[in-house]
Amino acid sequence: MKKIMFLFCTMLTLLSTSASSKTLVVYYSYTGNCREIVTTLTSQIQADVLEIQPAEKGLKYEANNYALGTQLLNAIKANPNDAGSYPAIDPVTTSLNDYETIIIVTPLWWSQMAANMQTYLFNYGSQLAGKNIGLIVSSASSGISGVVDDCKRLVPDGKYFSENLWINHSNHSNRATLIQNWLSAINYNTVTGINETKTTTAAPTCIYDLGGRMLVKEPSKGIYIKNGKKVVIK
Ligand SMILES: Cc1cc2nc3c(=O)[nH]c(=O)nc-3n(C[C@H](O)[C@H](O)[C@H](O)COP(=O)(O)O)c2cc1C
Repeated sequence: MKKIMFLFCTMLTLLSTSASSKTLVVYYSYTGNCREIVTTLTSQIQADVLEIQPAEKGLKYEANNYALGTQLLNAIKANPNDAGSYPAIDPVTTSLNDYETIIIVTPLWWSQMAANMQTYLFNYGSQLAGKNIGLIVSSASSGISGVVDDCKRLVPDGKYFSENLWINHSNHSNRATLIQNWLSAINYNTVTGINETKTTTAAPTCIYDLGGRMLVKEPSKGIYIKNGKKVVIK
C-alpha cells in the first residue's frame, strides 16, 4: 500500500511538470496594469512568464494626445502583412516548443491590440498554431472585440479558449476574482490537462512521519509532514 501511494505521489509530481502541458504567459505592459494582472494570474496557476519589451526605450505613447500610439497602430492597419509596419521589440529567446498553452495579456490601444504585442504575435504567431490560446485584455473602458480580431488575425490557427477575459479600470482591483472565474469558465484544467491551479481543493494527501516514512493515514496524535508542511496533532 505504501509503495502504491509513493508511486502515486511521484506520478502526480511528474505529471504536474510535464513539458507538453506547460503554460506560458506572454505579456506587454506600458503603465503597469497588465503586469499586475500577470502577477495575480500566476498566483493562481503554474506558468512561465515572458515580458515583451519595445526595442526603443522611453517612448511616450500617450504624449501629444496619444500621437505615437496612434501612429504605430495606423502603420499596422495600413499594411498588416508587412513586417516593417510593426515596431521593433527586444529579441525573444523563449522557445514556444516547450508550451502547450499560451495566455496573452495585453493592453488595448485605440480599440486594438497594443502595437508591441502585435509585433510579437506577427513574428511568432505561426508557432502558436494548434496551441491553446487564452487572451486577457486590459483597457480603460473600451470593449475588446477589436483586440480579439487582431489576435485571431495574428494567430489564426490557435485553439482559442471558449472565452476571453476583459479587465477594465473599474474592475482592475477585482481582478483576482475575475481571473479565478475565467479559469473556471474556460475549464482551464480540463482543456490544458494541467491539474495544478493553485486552489485549496484536495489533491491526494501525502503524509510522512519525521523519519521520512510514508504513512497510509493521518495519525491521531503526533508530529508529521502532510503535503510538505509540518502538522502537530495533540
Ligand atoms: C496609446 C494608448 C491608447 C489607448 N487607447 C485606449 C482606448 O481606445 N480605450 C480604452 O479604454 N483605453 C485605452 N488606453 C488605455 C489602456 O488600454 C489602459 O490604461 C490599460 O490598462 C493599459 O495597460 P498597461 O498599464 O498594462 O499598459 C490606451 C492607452 C494607450 C497608451
